[in-house]
Amino acid sequence: MKKKVFSGVQPSGIPTIGNYIGAMKNFVTLQDEYECTYCIVNQHAITVPQDPQELKERTRGLAALYLACGLDPKKSIIFVQSEVPAHAQAAWIVQCNTYIGELERMTQYKDKSAKQEAVTAGLLTYPPLMVADIILYHSALVPVGEDQKQHLELTRDFVQRFNNRYSKKKPLLVMPEPYIPKEGARIMSLQDPTSKMSKSDTNQKGFISMLDTPAAIRKKIKSAQTDSSGKIEYDKENKPGISNLLTIFSACTGRSIKELEIEFADSGYGAFKEQLADAVIAELEPIQNRYYELLESDELDEVLTDGAKRAAVIANETLAKMEAAMGLGR
Ligand code: AMP
Ligand code: TRP
Repeated sequence: MKKKVFSGVQPSGIPTIGNYIGAMKNFVTLQDEYECTYCIVNQHAITVPQDPQELKERTRGLAALYLACGLDPKKSIIFVQSEVPAHAQAAWIVQCNTYIGELERMTQYKDKSAKQEAVTAGLLTYPPLMVADIILYHSALVPVGEDQKQHLELTRDFVQRFNNRYSKKKPLLVMPEPYIPKEGARIMSLQDPTSKMSKSDTNQKGFISMLDTPAAIRKKIKSAQTDSSGKIEYDKENKPGISNLLTIFSACTGRSIKELEIEFADSGYGAFKEQLADAVIAELEPIQNRYYELLESDELDEVLTDGAKRAAVIANETLAKMEAAMGLGR
């Protein structure tokens, strides 16, 4: 039997090339080898305030981007989280088997709660919903960026605990593993290469969105922070800016960082950035063209409606088994 893959992205903004390189690009690669399910996790997005109209548009928009990147509904299940109620139901079971102390230790919770004036309970119980997403589909591999590693560890702890408590004889839940790319798992801000590139950065120059125009991409790369040595070398400690740009270049072209260092050994930053901009534009332009076509099509909604149906069959079956194992029922 093929291994199962599950992952999701929040429709909380337009995805950046960080999301693309760290996660979405790998979603596409994995679908040829595994049975994949990809979700638009809108219930995770509402753990912080969202404008309802915008959330709706971004949900559809993210689905269009999934398809535009190359996700194929014939190979993968693609659906919207809130359309499969089993996620919220399973999340409750996960919450009742997770300790507040574990959740308070999550660095994403600490970061996000520090930025909010009013912290909702949902922000704290965000990881149990993610655990539910993963376990419902018997996922063995979860392609994510570096920042999600801790949530995957929590998922593994939960799986072990649940199987131990409720299904000792025949483990019900599959132990998942994170699938984190060796390079590009943490694309950094163009303006502050010591912090992660984020779609919610208030400084627009810090990130390249997947829908930025070629002119905007060129401008942002041109103003990306580098250093004063003038050498194009990968050195994360001392040259975080150039190292980040080399990582992006490599991810967009499939060429190794070593190869790029050799090619640009005698170049200045200006020429390097020009060619990097060309590479990023060449990668994103076809995706953008397809994206705008899909947004206008009926195909998108058909894919999502069908995806939710197929997802619900799998999710409901796992949920029923979890409930039965715990004695929920008569
Ligand atoms: P999010 O935008 O938080 O829903 O993230 C979606 C996926 O993109 C997750 O797997 C993240 O780990 C990944 N991701 C987000 N930001 C970055 C980044 N700067 N570099 C690499 N991966 C990222
Ligand atoms: N928490 C993830 C993020 O912010 C998104 C997510 C939700 C996810 N559920 C998931 C990722 C399940 C992988 C598997 O990036």
